[in-house]
Amino acid sequence: MARPDHASRLIAKFTHRRATVGVVGLGYVGLPLVRAMHQAGFRVIGYDVDEKKVAALRAGKAYLKHLGRELVKELASSGRFTATSDPRVLRECDAVCLCVPTPLGAHREPDLSFVVESSRMVAGVLKKGALVSLESTSYPGTTREVCLPILEGKEGGRARRLGTDFFLAFSPEREDPGRKGFETRTIPRLVGGVDDRSGEVAEALYSAAVETVHRVGSAEVAEAAKLLENIYRAVNIALVNELKPVLTDMGIDIWQVIRAASTKPFGFHPFYPGPGLGGHCIPIDPYYLSYKAREFGHSTRFIELAGEINHAMPRYVVERAAAALNDRGRALRGANILVLGIAYKADVDDIRETPAAEIIALLAERGARVSYHDPHVPTFPTMRKYDIPLKSCPLTPRVLRAADAVVVVTAHQAIDWAMVGREARLVVDTRDVLAGRKRTRAVVVKA
Ligand SMILES: NC(=O)c1ccc[n+]([C@@H]2O[C@H](COP(=O)([O-])OP(=O)(O)OC[C@H]3O[C@@H](n4cnc5c(N)ncnc54)[C@H](O)[C@@H]3O)[C@@H](O)[C@H]2O)c1
Repeated sequence: MARPDHASRLIAKFTHRRATVGVVGLGYVGLPLVRAMHQAGFRVIGYDVDEKKVAALRAGKAYLKHLGRELVKELASSGRFTATSDPRVLRECDAVCLCVPTPLGAHREPDLSFVVESSRMVAGVLKKGALVSLESTSYPGTTREVCLPILEGKEGGRARRLGTDFFLAFSPEREDPGRKGFETRTIPRLVGGVDDRSGEVAEALYSAAVETVHRVGSAEVAEAAKLLENIYRAVNIALVNELKPVLTDMGIDIWQVIRAASTKPFGFHPFYPGPGLGGHCIPIDPYYLSYKAREFGHSTRFIELAGEINHAMPRYVVERAAAALNDRGRALRGANILVLGIAYKADVDDIRETPAAEIIALLAERGARVSYHDPHVPTFPTMRKYDIPLKSCPLTPRVLRAADAVVVVTAHQAIDWAMVGREARLVVDTRDVLAGRKRTRAVVVKA
């Protein structure tokens, strides 16, 4: 009988959960992946350069609230999980999944330094015949053009051959932190290999941990699909953000219009306007495609236009607040403004790229005295572009009555919106949170 080849051996290991899976980068994407792989029955090694995260995991302390405290406690007491900052521990892994950041540089160009650095680290320790799967969002071609040569040893170090010494695939994470009803295990997975065997091997790994896996023709298809998903959101959010001032000036409430259009059972998917984009994906990922498109002589006008419209939203919100105060005989200068919610979306503590930062900075620049309340973010963290030395104030009827205007940025469920409507004088509502609340006494200006 012929001996099984490298790929078949690895597939059997994944199928029978006899493998060790390494997860590199233990953030919003990596930690839920650890959970899914661990629940599937694999031995899991979590690696991060951030020693604080590793120490927290070892101590069973949660640092991502939305995943709950139980997860980290369970991992810390499990004999099948190791958290480490020592790359040598990854030598035991049959698969290594890279979940490192892919931010933008100062000129909105892709910053692949984390992908390069972690690929180099993996190249130094990878076990013979193991799979590497990139999960970080990036432009089509990243896995083949950036990761593959590093793993093949083209930069020096050990020479390796794809298909015998290692396998390589791209599998985009589709995590939506805080969304109820979905987790890594239940979100359908895309998998694309840089060659057929890599695709098969990666499909076997993810099929052991995720309910539905769609294998696509190449790593590039998977990379482009992930970008399409996020560009689709960015463009559709921009569309409603563009219509918002238009309809407002016509005296039409855009939220009512969207609810009305949503009654059509086909051909329409609702997107909602807001104070601007936030988070790791929507404000950043589309520019990864724009960058790569330029290499092929294309400009991506929809992406640029969507970015322009969405980026203008914080300024629009501040203008609406200034106009509303003006109508009441007040100036922004010297006004007490209370911002409700600074997280970039409801019910999470994530402030990455949050539009609240620009809104607060613009309000302060125009002389307003700004405070904020966010039940999930007690202190305004230092950001790349902003340093806002504020702490969340308690939300009481007195605080609401003392504010000249309340600006709603994030529709956290934990905020008592009925009290806001009852006690505040003026509410600039970017999320339509006060719609239909009968006992609202505040003047509500939608923005
Ligand atoms: N956050 C989301 O909702 C989301 C959803 C889908 C896809 N993504 C994509 O997933 C990727 C990771 O995003 P995230 O939100 O998990 O980021 P994150 O910042 O929460 O986590 C990244 C982790 O990687 C670690 N890290 C950085 N360099 C490292 C290295 N060289 N070796 C090991 N660890 C390293 C960091 O310390 C951090 O803990 C990005 O490409 C992002 O676009 C994110």
